[in-house]
Amino acid sequence: MKGIILAGGTGSRLYPLTKVTNKHLLPVYDKPMIFYPIQTLIDAGIKEIMIVSGRGHAGHFLELLGSGADLGVKFTYEIQEEAGGIAQALGLAENFADEDDVVVILGDNIFQDSIRGDVSNFKGGAKIFLKEVSDACRFGVAELEGNKVIGIEEKPREPKSNFAVTGLYIYSNNVFKVIKTLKPSARGELEITDVNNYFVNDRTMEYRILDGFWSDAGTFESLLRAGLLIQKNSKNKNLE
Ligand code: G1P
Repeated sequence: MKGIILAGGTGSRLYPLTKVTNKHLLPVYDKPMIFYPIQTLIDAGIKEIMIVSGRGHAGHFLELLGSGADLGVKFTYEIQEEAGGIAQALGLAENFADEDDVVVILGDNIFQDSIRGDVSNFKGGAKIFLKEVSDACRFGVAELEGNKVIGIEEKPREPKSNFAVTGLYIYSNNVFKVIKTLKPSARGELEITDVNNYFVNDRTMEYRILDGFWSDAGTFESLLRAGLLIQKNSKNKNLE
């Protein structure tokens, strides 16, 4: 299993914080944002990690992270030339993935849960991780029936549930074939939700509801909330 961190995009919702740097390099409490998804992958036992970023600040990722040797992993870097969506960025990792399955994590998503078991027990198809939220219309939203996902809608006006699809996905290697069949959405991007709905329709999509905290950090409010969650958690750890 290989890991892919998607750290492209312009970070326009965080302007002017993102005027001279990349969103994923901004601080979340005491670390650069991208350290958190890296940690999630390392905790899951992933050793080979590709970082896909935009052209603007790619050199800064290299300077910050280097080869990965000090973390016991190997980083590979790829550039997404234009903002063509999350699924397009994932498509750039096809050669890196080679024949392997992949864990994909968005560079601005911060998770407390471990997915080590999900990775080691993965049997093909795809798996998503859901979290109950009060503002589901900001996210991809899963409609559930029994123990199955029956559909996912991207940022629906009237969400069919309160379960946000978090930015963490496990895919079998055929995800790269699926991406090639996608058409751009109304906002001109290849949507990860369309990738996920392929596996839903194929009846090979699994899900798990996360217990621990989760936050994205792509808006001022969520960036602040993520920092406060990390701060609170590190205080609790210090008390243990
Ligand atoms: C993306 C995905 C969305 C997902 C979210 C998680 O949205 O498109 O399905 O719920 O990440 O952070 P974005 O925040 O990039 O607009």
